[in-house]
Amino acid sequence: MNNTLDSKIYWGESEINAAYDKAKFQEFQQQSPEQIKQACTDKNGRLKHIIRAEHFDLEFLETICETAKAARRVAKLEDKYLKSLLTGKSVLNYFAQESSRTFLSFSTAQAHLGMRREDVRDIKTSSQMKGEPEKDSLRTHSSYFNSIVCRHPSDVYDLFAIWALSLSDRSVSFVNAGSGSKEHPTQGILDYYTFRESHKEGLDGKSFAFVGDALRGRTIHSNMKILTLHQDITIYSVAPKHLQLDEETETYLQQKGTKLIKVTDGLKDVVPLIDGAIYMTRIQDEHDKDKGKQKYDPKFIFEEEMLNQMRPGAILTHPLPKREEIAPGIDYYKKDPRIMLWRAVRNGMWTRAATFAYLFGVDDQIRGQYERIKKAAATP
Ligand code: CP
Repeated sequence: MNNTLDSKIYWGESEINAAYDKAKFQEFQQQSPEQIKQACTDKNGRLKHIIRAEHFDLEFLETICETAKAARRVAKLEDKYLKSLLTGKSVLNYFAQESSRTFLSFSTAQAHLGMRREDVRDIKTSSQMKGEPEKDSLRTHSSYFNSIVCRHPSDVYDLFAIWALSLSDRSVSFVNAGSGSKEHPTQGILDYYTFRESHKEGLDGKSFAFVGDALRGRTIHSNMKILTLHQDITIYSVAPKHLQLDEETETYLQQKGTKLIKVTDGLKDVVPLIDGAIYMTRIQDEHDKDKGKQKYDPKFIFEEEMLNQMRPGAILTHPLPKREEIAPGIDYYKKDPRIMLWRAVRNGMWTRAATFAYLFGVDDQIRGQYERIKKAAATP
């Protein structure tokens, strides 16, 4: 992770105070990746903050996926039970950048668990407009809530948040709902759930193509890091040269021994090689100064006829929002088990419910309740 300070964080109007805070934050950032992970983990080794995919292991992902499956079923059969689990807990959904799915899936997941929730979706309604540094805003938020979910344009907001929260002795869980171009760990979890549900035989040995904007696609970065946890994975980074994978993620894959193949001349020849998932993304032009000027290269579009070239079992997905990178006809294939992008949207709600259940230690209760329901149904 590039640990430089980020101008997208608001440090307040006082230069003296800002310089002081920046120096303190820089000290925090200089910790090793192991120390950062430790700062995100409680004394029992459970994650208390969800900030980066590199903090996940297979045991954690298995717990979240099994809890998500159980929550989905329990909600259908015993919704009141699910709603009783976190009635005493509260969350602030603080979205300093646009979102449809992540915001709504978090909010709906929290409602399923009975949590009290509030939103900030427009910074113009915040006292930052009166010069309050974001550090103080976060500390204020932590006074009223047990957890904070945050989306932010800064690449380092995740670290900034756990640093700011560490200034208080309140125990507040922080969840990164997408920070800059680097990480979107809960999207990584939901995509992992989708991959896992589509490949009951397991993910070891599978090949995956990540297509579009591999340079700034935070969902791509989190997904790739998660896949390194499996054996013999091959990752194709399919993007024009100027949108190819960033050096930092490439180095991470190398260190984990995951095979990476960069393809810059189009998607066509890659489709028949993939037996895991073809993961499409749009150009993330919110990072461009001349937003909207970059055209998506048609060689990287998933065309309708490519469905016929897909290997058995392979799936097509996209974190959404999408633009022209998937041919329009694909949306009209109802119930095609290969096309997972819309089903993944719903998976996001259940994996986010599972993430909150995990953070507040009720995940085992949800799985236990599901087992009891199953047993009762099987008893004549
Ligand atoms: N996938 C995703 O992050 O979508 P939103 O930007 O709509 O939240």
